Amino acid sequence: MSGRKRVAVLASGGGSNLQAVIDHLATLGERRSADITLVVAGREEAGALARARRARIETAVAAPGALGDLLDAKAIDIVVLAGYLAFVPGDVTERWKGRIINVHPALLPSFGGQGLYGLRVHRAVLDAGVRVSGATVHFVDAEYDRGPIIAQWPVPVAAHDSPESLAARVLRAEHRLLPRVVDALAAGVVRLDSDGRVQGGLATSPPDAFSLHPPDDATVATEIDALFSA
Ligand code: GRF
Repeated sequence: MSGRKRVAVLASGGGSNLQAVIDHLATLGERRSADITLVVAGREEAGALARARRARIETAVAAPGALGDLLDAKAIDIVVLAGYLAFVPGDVTERWKGRIINVHPALLPSFGGQGLYGLRVHRAVLDAGVRVSGATVHFVDAEYDRGPIIAQWPVPVAAHDSPESLAARVLRAEHRLLPRVVDALAAGVVRLDSDGRVQGGLATSPPDAFSLHPPDDATVATEIDALFSA
């Protein structure tokens, strides 16, 4: 027994956040506190499943109603929603309370809730005219995007941002934040206490240079190119 936590990642989309967690745990090597032992999607075509297979991680396609039994059968300790669009049933959020987290591409509690996913989030951020957006990782409870916040990293909004360019910049922050939270949760560095408060946590800004100055046009273009050529 390694003593490492068994993590299931639930993903509906391309799975770039899943990939970021896979890569980070691989980089930590023997120092990691978690192993991804299952990746679940709602449909066979989800890019996340292909990424999981490439990393030799077990995969499953399951409807939300079947999640509880599946996660139980696979002895899952921690559930990570990484771009998972279906509603997670109450039996799962209850049973994995304090052990189920989600990544959201904005600074909650703003710009979250039902219907606010994908580019819609970034459109709402730009419409509101806020200067700072960011990535949030939070515990999941019965309500969309409302559970206790574990960590947030800010991302500047540029005057000339499109929803796509902002999404690309925020996604890069997600890719760095989510894996760190997964390992911290598995290690017990962060936890939900019995009052529903988050104990412990991560630094409130990224570990290396991460400017809060809005990037210029050329940088925004390069960021988008880098994302879509990855
Ligand atoms: C991310 O922006 C995540 O925050 C949101 O959906 C997107 C998923 O991207 N919930 P990916 O599938 O991880 O590439």
